[in-house]
Amino acid sequence: MKIGTPKETFEGENRVAMTPASALELQKLGHECVVETKAGAAAGFSDKDYKDAGVEVVKTAAALWKAADIVAKVRVPDDGEMKRLRADQTLISFFSPVADEAKMKSAARKGATVVAMEMIPRISRAQKMDALSSMANIAGYRAVIEAGNNFPRFFTGQITAAGKVPPAKVLVVGAGVAGLAAIGTSTSLGAITYAFDVRPEVAEQVESMGAEFVFLDFEEEQADGASSGGYASVSSPEFAAAQLAKFREIAPDMDIVITTALIPNREAPELWTEDMVKSMKPGSVIVDLAAEKGGNCKLTIKDEKIVTDNGVTIIGYTDFPSRMAAQSSTLYATNIRHLMSDLTPEKDGVVDHNMEDDVIRGATVTHDKEVTFPPPPPKVQAIAAQPKAEVVELTPEEKRAAEVAAFKAQTKSQVTLIGIGAFLLLAVGLVAPASFMQHFIVFVLAVFVGFQVIWGVAHSLHTPLMAVTNAISSIIILGALMQIGSGSFLVILLAALSVFMTGINIFGGFLVTRRMLAMFQKS
Ligand code: NAI
Repeated sequence: MKIGTPKETFEGENRVAMTPASALELQKLGHECVVETKAGAAAGFSDKDYKDAGVEVVKTAAALWKAADIVAKVRVPDDGEMKRLRADQTLISFFSPVADEAKMKSAARKGATVVAMEMIPRISRAQKMDALSSMANIAGYRAVIEAGNNFPRFFTGQITAAGKVPPAKVLVVGAGVAGLAAIGTSTSLGAITYAFDVRPEVAEQVESMGAEFVFLDFEEEQADGASSGGYASVSSPEFAAAQLAKFREIAPDMDIVITTALIPNREAPELWTEDMVKSMKPGSVIVDLAAEKGGNCKLTIKDEKIVTDNGVTIIGYTDFPSRMAAQSSTLYATNIRHLMSDLTPEKDGVVDHNMEDDVIRGATVTHDKEVTFPPPPPKVQAIAAQPKAEVVELTPEEKRAAEVAAFKAQTKSQVTLIGIGAFLLLAVGLVAPASFMQHFIVFVLAVFVGFQVIWGVAHSLHTPLMAVTNAISSIIILGALMQIGSGSFLVILLAALSVFMTGINIFGGFLVTRRMLAMFQKS
């Protein structure tokens, strides 16, 4: 099939849906590639780069839409592009099926298949195609860079001959994809970073990235206002009030606030109110990533940068990915390439639009002359959403009785095992010489103790344990070395084998331990 990418028509859009590198990968799937002239110019990819990658370059958008069986682009197609879309053609692009219902219906009437990139389900298998996440990641990074560009101080604290510089304090509201990217960038620049989210399960991720999670003094189970398919849902009015009270308390202390809070298909919640902006220091910066959906701060003006009377800069740009077009085009084109790879299972250039596949079904909004939006929930999620078996709460008496019963059962099995062991030892002792028995008892005890020690260790600790078993191996290797000079061939053989095997354990243990330690070292 021929995959084509036109130049984006949306004013100021710099991204492109196919890069020379992604074209090479698409060709490996058996497809041919075509782009409109200058399609990648704003992202830094020239027509020559495409030609060198074996891509045909056509002069006009009309020629491109005519030549391509599959059109891959970034923005929702405009009216002119919708007219060019034809029967049996596949369009892969952001499509906003809710807002652009008329376009969706028109595509279905024509018999075109539309795959909406924002509809790729947020399940692990689809992460490589998740364009919303790859764009949000860039937006989060760029939000911090943009904030830094407008902030009149350093991010990191410094002690210089000219004086002491305090570190900047950054608050990230909403620790989804964009929020986590912002946290990572902010901490790596050296700012003291705080983060808040209605999903408390992200607290650990936030802390692992070196930021501090802002906990509320509130009893409600935050998570129950939380996730479905990786997104948040609405929290109670009391919770929202507690959240605002906390923000009000910390607002005067924050230098930079990056808001990313969003619940899908809703207006962005107002989280940074006018009085909070007023309480901030002059020079402070707010970057409102939710500007597209009304903003988390109502003073935000979409696509603009304003400075309030008290000197706070509020940035409401909605085109952060486009401001880093080379990076975002590379990631977006890779998302498309992965999607094409799923659509071309045999890698023979033949597209199999398998509507039984969760990811393909989820993202397809028109197919076979029908509107297929909204999709059914992914099967994986349907399994996850099954009601949990009810956990029976035990009374203290029942708990005690259960503990006693478990202790009795354990004691019984231990006594039985010791009994059997003692009987077997006695039986062997009846026929074996005394010198053998002496060694045999030590051997049996060593096996028993070793087994108990290893068995009681959690799996996650087995690798560090290898470092300890090195010590045990050292004892074994000493014993083996002492025996290796013995006259008996069998003893020499066994000793040599012991040296060999414990050698593997010792050197392997050190290698693994070194690699583990390297994971915690800064390069
Ligand atoms: P996401 O759904 O992964 O993250 C949103 C987070 O906000 C979730 O973790 C959610 O739990 C949290 N949240 C929801 N309500 C909240 C509340 N009341 N208080 C605190 N946290 C709350 O979304 P993603 O992909 O990270 O995108 C974040 C925002 O960035 C969206 O508004 C998106 O439209 C925007 N965006 C902006 C771009 C730009 O150029 N300005 C580009 C890409 C994304």
